[in-house]
Amino acid sequence: MASPQSKAFPKGFTWGTATAAHQVEGNNWNNDWWDWEHTPGSPCVEPSGDTCDHFNRYPQDIAMLKSWGFDTYRFSVEWSRIEPEDGEFSQAAIDHYRKVVRCCRDNGITPVVTLHHFTTPRWVAALGGWGNDATADLFARFSDKVARGLGDEVGMWCTINEPNMVSTIGYLLGEFPPGKKDRALRLKANEVFCAAHRKARDAVKSVSKAPLGITLAMQEYTIIGDNDDELAQAAAHRDRAWAGLEDPFLEVAKGDDFFGVQTYTREIMDKDGRTKPTSDMRLTIMGYEFRPSALEACIRRAWEQTNHVPLIVTENGVAATDDRERIEFVHDALDGVLNCIADGIDVRGYTYWTLMDNFEWTRGYAPIFGLCAVDRSTQVRTPKPSAHWLGRVAQANALLGIND
Ligand code: BGC
Repeated sequence: MASPQSKAFPKGFTWGTATAAHQVEGNNWNNDWWDWEHTPGSPCVEPSGDTCDHFNRYPQDIAMLKSWGFDTYRFSVEWSRIEPEDGEFSQAAIDHYRKVVRCCRDNGITPVVTLHHFTTPRWVAALGGWGNDATADLFARFSDKVARGLGDEVGMWCTINEPNMVSTIGYLLGEFPPGKKDRALRLKANEVFCAAHRKARDAVKSVSKAPLGITLAMQEYTIIGDNDDELAQAAAHRDRAWAGLEDPFLEVAKGDDFFGVQTYTREIMDKDGRTKPTSDMRLTIMGYEFRPSALEACIRRAWEQTNHVPLIVTENGVAATDDRERIEFVHDALDGVLNCIADGIDVRGYTYWTLMDNFEWTRGYAPIFGLCAVDRSTQVRTPKPSAHWLGRVAQANALLGIND
């Protein structure tokens, strides 16, 4: 067992970086996001277009992350490519992802495959998307095809990426597709996602022996107030936030092989609910607080609430134009991971979001989370110092200083 002093991670701890199909592949025109990017009045600042052309350039990208020192690559398969219409499966698309998995293996990289990362085929969206119970079965049918198609070379499965973000931002806040602002529909979407996870889990596990889990967007919550009454009201706001955002998914994960913790920042709650960032706060270019220690708080909560399901940090990172801030953020976040491990929490890996600067959903290409810059006019990749720093950490399997 590592102690915080030794800065060593346990043997077998995995070091990865992640992408999602729609954010890097390019031209995923047959899903709800492409539609949303082209819907007048949607909050999207620009369309995804060719993005990083990772669909064609994956061999170079996988070789690159290997050369930095990583051992794991988490990516998603695009449902709308594999099943462009209801029940019509594309063998060519399945073969493509099989090649991506093989390419990982050829490079000594463990492929972690996410079955759903925010995007839903247009035809599923037209049937009611995640507000429709039938979507859980459609997703399970798709998952079964993928599990059979990609075979036993997949190292790990994530069923659904951050379902709580899709349900909350898409069905309650109206900023992601389908742009709904409907409390009841958001809760319905949570239920459909949970059912989809269970059904996809059964489908995949009947075909593949690889470990499987779901991933969740989690935040640290800090409560503030001047007196007991205010503190109690703030705590009630926090509990309500958990109830809609996190609790159903922490519950459905019980008994899974692992649970994917994904954390970027914290929320401060006062008696009126979420507070806005104050002028003395250090912010990232996403407009939220620079708060690497949020990861430790979320790992601890996930461990308790799932009744000790093994954890993997499937996403953590920061959008920063100054790459030194990225190294500082990851360093401090990893320090928190070590604290958790020292306390006996079973954390098995860390995955940096993201491999390269890419399409940040409604925010377009400005928020840069990548370990590598991409010139989208030439598709030239330029690794940042943080890529090499984190690669050295991975190779040492120990936390290095920010100048090491
Ligand atoms: C999502 C990613 C996104 C990242 C940074 C996560 O919520 O899974 O797709 O790019 O956060 O905002």
